[in-house]
Amino acid sequence: MGRTRDRLKKAIAQSRIPSSHGIRYANELLALGAWFREHAEGVPAFARNRDLYAHVNEEVLGDAPIDLFEFGVREGSTISKWMEVNSNPASRFFGFDSFEGLPESWRGGVGETPAGSFATGGAVPRLDDERVHFVAGLFQETLSAFLTQDYRPTGNRRVLHCDADLYSSTLFVLATMHPWLDPGSVIVFDEFDSPLHEFRAFVDYTSSYRRRFRAIARTGPLLARLAVEILE
Ligand SMILES: C[S@@+](CC[C@H](N)C(=O)[O-])C[C@H]1O[C@@H](n2cnc3c(N)ncnc32)[C@H](O)[C@@H]1O
Repeated sequence: MGRTRDRLKKAIAQSRIPSSHGIRYANELLALGAWFREHAEGVPAFARNRDLYAHVNEEVLGDAPIDLFEFGVREGSTISKWMEVNSNPASRFFGFDSFEGLPESWRGGVGETPAGSFATGGAVPRLDDERVHFVAGLFQETLSAFLTQDYRPTGNRRVLHCDADLYSSTLFVLATMHPWLDPGSVIVFDEFDSPLHEFRAFVDYTSSYRRRFRAIARTGPLLARLAVEILE
């Protein structure tokens, strides 16, 4: 975990942010390092995101039909990769985004990505694949209604791709999707190495809802993207 230590030192040394935030960040970074050693050190690691998705699709999902929910679509780059990797005609791909960018600023250890980043000006991607369907709006305003009124489960295994960056958005998604996250469901996090955000949201979700899981695969020398399977 040399890189985690280096990031920690850099975060503290360069910190131009109030020390209470720096301390929170440092604590969560240490917790992420411990979590990594306990759960993910030995899992297959891939250099490219697409290779991670292909591994999950072939080795865990058996290239079977899936219902993939992506939270944070932007221009559709990731959901397109998933649709290439899983070409099963019975798969369905649901993409959720406000397309107005981050609803609040995304604050890391040193830097901050302002609210509104990643906006497409409201434009929804046009993808030539009838298996994909987009839901525009804040997750907090669209997801519950979609699940109760529009979503018709078919027996497809569910895959969540979480790329909303923020703790608030990620925790909301995990808690709202909870009744649909049966054992065998897969969750992929795009920025699991963001200690105050996706990592903390997953830890808070799994502890509050008493979920057991196993890490399946990751990218990077340590962690960046992470895939987990819900066990119970
Ligand atoms: C990093 S971008 C997603 C990148 C995308 N997966 C890709 O393939 O390029 C994060 C996205 O999350 C969306 N987002 C974050 N929180 C949200 C929320 N609560 N409701 C709706 N969209 C949200 C933002 O609008 C933004 O487009």
